[in-house]
Amino acid sequence: MNEQLQYNLKEMEITTFQKDLVQWFIREQRDLPWRKDSDPYKVWVSEIMLQQTRVDTVIPYYERFLKKFPTLETFAEADDESVLKIWEGLGYYSRVRNLHSAVKEVVTQYDGKVPNTLKEISMLKGVGPYTAGAILSIAYGVPAPAVDGNVMRVLSRILLIYEDIAKPSTRKIFEDAVREIIDCDHPSYFNQALMELGALICTPTSPSCLLCPVREHCLAFSAGVEKDLPVKTRKKSTKHVDLLAAVLKTDNGKFIIRKRPSKGLLANLWEFPTVEDGNFIQMRTSLLKYLDQEINVKAQLETGAFVKVDHVFSHLTWTINVFAGSISGEINLERNYLLVTKKELEEYAFPVSHQTIWKAYKEKFQL
Ligand code: ADE
Repeated sequence: MNEQLQYNLKEMEITTFQKDLVQWFIREQRDLPWRKDSDPYKVWVSEIMLQQTRVDTVIPYYERFLKKFPTLETFAEADDESVLKIWEGLGYYSRVRNLHSAVKEVVTQYDGKVPNTLKEISMLKGVGPYTAGAILSIAYGVPAPAVDGNVMRVLSRILLIYEDIAKPSTRKIFEDAVREIIDCDHPSYFNQALMELGALICTPTSPSCLLCPVREHCLAFSAGVEKDLPVKTRKKSTKHVDLLAAVLKTDNGKFIIRKRPSKGLLANLWEFPTVEDGNFIQMRTSLLKYLDQEINVKAQLETGAFVKVDHVFSHLTWTINVFAGSISGEINLERNYLLVTKKELEEYAFPVSHQTIWKAYKEKFQL
């Protein structure tokens, strides 16, 4: 541990800090569906969903997921398409692909029981130090740190840690700190209390210090610097990409969709035929040419785009201009393309941007 941190920890009365924090959590915690039981599978699902995603967004997904896959075994047996479909709209789809592989591994390697040691659990796909610590502490009562960005924010203030939380190497400093201060009698409550404090009180821009149960222990509050912490350098600005897409309907009312590649952004999700193109003068001509060259269809496109969809990813933004069109005659589609009815289309998993396109199309054409 670095010297600065060691010094700060000495200033705290750790036992009263733990007591104040845990008692507050027991009293004030939100009633969240994943807090109903500590089944390791359910804790795992919730913690994966909660990465980079707000609690309010997660709740309905979590409930639907467990209704469809109530046990680890049912999820292990699910087919890839239904796994993506249930995650549709939640984003960061590699989370669910990894979760699915890892759950299958738990069935084959661990007889369906989620491992309860750091070594074994960390070997599962998609289980990083945060998720490992969260499952071990919440489901098994192991005093392991579960440090994400929110926990780093909270602890940077309480312990007056000025390390840059945007740097990957910083997480270890906070994990060491948690090992020093975790309540070994109540590790589940302790870790969840830090998360809860970050969500309800110790928020990013205007922490509610006057309501904070551990204000007396907070070194940043006592120094009046709570708003200067955490130190977080800004990441590079995001890239922007312009795209053109086409919703193409055949004479007999079917639509062309295609599956995205199995690697990279939105892997294996479905979408309407799309091409990267920032030429705003000749969008329609450009798209016609692409459809002809790529999928060998001669489409009739409407003159203007019927909708423009913007989508923000963590590292990238998209603007998609979308044209409606029709196709007739023989259509020979390649493997990753499909012709589907409206009903069939809605069984496939689409990224949010293409769900928006479909919704706009149905509204515009009264489908
Ligand atoms: N964020 C990450 N894990 C969480 C949990 N278990 N409860 C609430 N928010 C969280």
